[in-house]
Amino acid sequence: MTRKINIFDTTLRDGEQSPGASMNTEEKLVIARQLLRLNVDVIEAGFPISSPGDFESVRRIAELAGEDATVAGLTRAIEKDIDVAADALKYAKRPRIHTGIGVSPSHMRDKLRITEDQCIERAVHAVSYAKKYVSDVQFYAEDAGRSDYDFLVKVIQAVVDAGATVVNIPDTTGYSLPEEFGQRIKYLMDNVRGIENVTVSVHCHNDLGMATALAMAGVKNGATQVECTINGLGERAGNTAMEEVVMAVRMHEAELDAHTDINTREFIKASRLVSSITGMNVQANKAIVGANAFAHSSGIHQDGVLKKRDTYEIIDPADVGAGASQIVLTARSGHAALKHRLEELGYEFEGEQLDQVYEAFLNLADKKKEVYDEDLESLVNERDREESALYTLESVQISCGFPLTPTATLTLANPEGEPITVCAYGTGPVDAVYKAVNQIIRVDNDLTEFSVQSVTRGIDALGEVTVRVKAGNGEVYTGRGADGDIIVSSTKAYLNALNRLLSEKR
Ligand code: KIV
Ligand code: ZN
Repeated sequence: MTRKINIFDTTLRDGEQSPGASMNTEEKLVIARQLLRLNVDVIEAGFPISSPGDFESVRRIAELAGEDATVAGLTRAIEKDIDVAADALKYAKRPRIHTGIGVSPSHMRDKLRITEDQCIERAVHAVSYAKKYVSDVQFYAEDAGRSDYDFLVKVIQAVVDAGATVVNIPDTTGYSLPEEFGQRIKYLMDNVRGIENVTVSVHCHNDLGMATALAMAGVKNGATQVECTINGLGERAGNTAMEEVVMAVRMHEAELDAHTDINTREFIKASRLVSSITGMNVQANKAIVGANAFAHSSGIHQDGVLKKRDTYEIIDPADVGAGASQIVLTARSGHAALKHRLEELGYEFEGEQLDQVYEAFLNLADKKKEVYDEDLESLVNERDREESALYTLESVQISCGFPLTPTATLTLANPEGEPITVCAYGTGPVDAVYKAVNQIIRVDNDLTEFSVQSVTRGIDALGEVTVRVKAGNGEVYTGRGADGDIIVSSTKAYLNALNRLLSEKR
């Protein structure tokens, strides 16, 4: 049997630190359920002292996970942080406190203003203090990637002696080169007494585009836990992407003497879920989960793949849950074909619900020749958004062009279901619609971001609009909308963001 590599997911903590990707507790629970379906070993559910929302998320995810995963809460090496994390984790069946401190010259000198001895003292105290609450204590040596080798050995030796069960070696700034980072892990394996009795974890950032390579170098040199996020979400350029590292381990299991227990067939679903909730689009050429990850366009490649798939494809798309996109759905497809395809994508609809989805599908298929998996996902997500909406779109009409003044006529149904119609004009058609929406939904907000992406290929593709609005209290809300008509997608996206803002206000 090869070495088991634990997968520590930090989408809900480090991933959430990605600008604009903040999630509320309900959204985090939806993602946590998907992480359990992926069978991750550890879910880092948040940083409990940072906000009441993070505390609540850690508490509820700990309850949800039960025996199925370890749930970790992050802390600084501060007693109060550890008290609060322990409180958030008190109902967890498998709680872990993740505490730590900066260990590089830059962090000790410029951020913490402490000496090396003080750093070790605080690290040891944090671990011993956390041990009073839970037996499973993980220590992170922040900015280990830029630390002195021998000082790092000293810190890790001290926390192992103090009872840490996991030692996390982060390349916090994504500075290292893979080979050097691997040597750093090997140096710890060779020089820390008793390290074979603890789990060595790697946590890498993608500032030089090497987060996955760094994590793999760690695994090659003795690490048995990788910290990662779905889609590589995370601070700045992000963290190691779970789907990349897990598939790399699977492809090279024998030479790495390593395996994970991840249910890789859940990857695509996880990727789309995280993207849809956070509003962070996945680039089409992203490894494993990008829209083009299994698309072949050159004649030579197509010829090879048709003769034998592995001439140009190292992964079977089915192994990561990528739908068999060659089965094309059209307006001639019936309920059964649609239901089957939706089930393959992980959605179950019966009876009346299926009829509603089928109707929406036919509307779309009439406008487009081919309906792809991404269109279906978008259609189902759109339906979910509409179901939970306070204000819904009844109609929108635009008149614009040269030399007209762009004018929107808009009808929304209010939460009581009554239609309200207004007219507004603006500098462009989207501006006119958004002014009309603001006439009906009078809530203080600033549109800070607007982006359009086509969901699939071709001129008739669905256009998906993502917006971010800043409420009067500074909170940022993301909204999404998809439709063949870009004005309709724009209206739906803005409404979605304002509906989220309003429901949180309520
Ligand atoms: O990047 C980092 O060092 C971290 C730690 C808090 C683990 O995210
Ligand atoms: Zn990090």
